[in-house]
Amino acid sequence: MPQKRPSYIIAITGASGAIYGVRLLEYMVKNGHVIHLTVTREGWYILNEEAGFSWEGNEKEIASAISKYYGTSTENLHYYNEDNLSASIASGSVHIDGMIVVPCSMKVVASVACGFASNLVERAADVTLKEKRRLIIVPRETPLNSIHLRNLLTLSEMGVHVIPAMPAFYGRPETVADIVDFIVGRILDSLHIDNDFYKRWNK
Ligand SMILES: Cc1cc2nc3c(=O)[nH]c(=O)nc-3n(C[C@H](O)[C@H](O)[C@H](O)COP(=O)(O)O)c2cc1C
Repeated sequence: MPQKRPSYIIAITGASGAIYGVRLLEYMVKNGHVIHLTVTREGWYILNEEAGFSWEGNEKEIASAISKYYGTSTENLHYYNEDNLSASIASGSVHIDGMIVVPCSMKVVASVACGFASNLVERAADVTLKEKRRLIIVPRETPLNSIHLRNLLTLSEMGVHVIPAMPAFYGRPETVADIVDFIVGRILDSLHIDNDFYKRWNK
């Protein structure tokens, strides 16, 4: 049997920090990973507001526009709308190595914590958990209330890797891109993907 290429789901939801998702997507598609991308309606809104990204059309057209933008093969990227509950990634039978929700809204945190799968992001995360695959979430909210904290604890206790969008400053970042790369580097670390996205502490 031919070796399968690593396949990941990237979900961009309606929390601030869309740029983290875009940067991870860029790295993953340019480095030969197969990516299944889904973006919620609010995710698209914030992507446009914060990063100026807005791709329109049907799912295939959006996938092909993003691939063209990054100069990569269309074979590496699949895109699904949040309403598409019959997308392949809604089923546990599809070969997926893990899922990253970046940025992750508190709504998705809450839905996943109680198994309420009302859109494709929530269903795919639910499937990732039931199949015992790696699920990484990058929550972004501040301040956090007790409900947020309880939901995050529930997910953490189930093995979800919670990587809050909390950049560190010991590497003396000089640009917004440096700050973004710190978080994306930590996500790649969690996926065991070697990277030099940020300066590691080395005294
Ligand atoms: C500009 C803007 C920024 C937002 N930032 C956050 C945020 O950082 N974290 C969060 O949990 N929700 C945030 N929200 C609220 C979510 O978008 C809202 O709860 C939405 O229902 C989430 O939907 P989704 O999880 O389906 O994407 C923001 C909304 C707007 C309009």
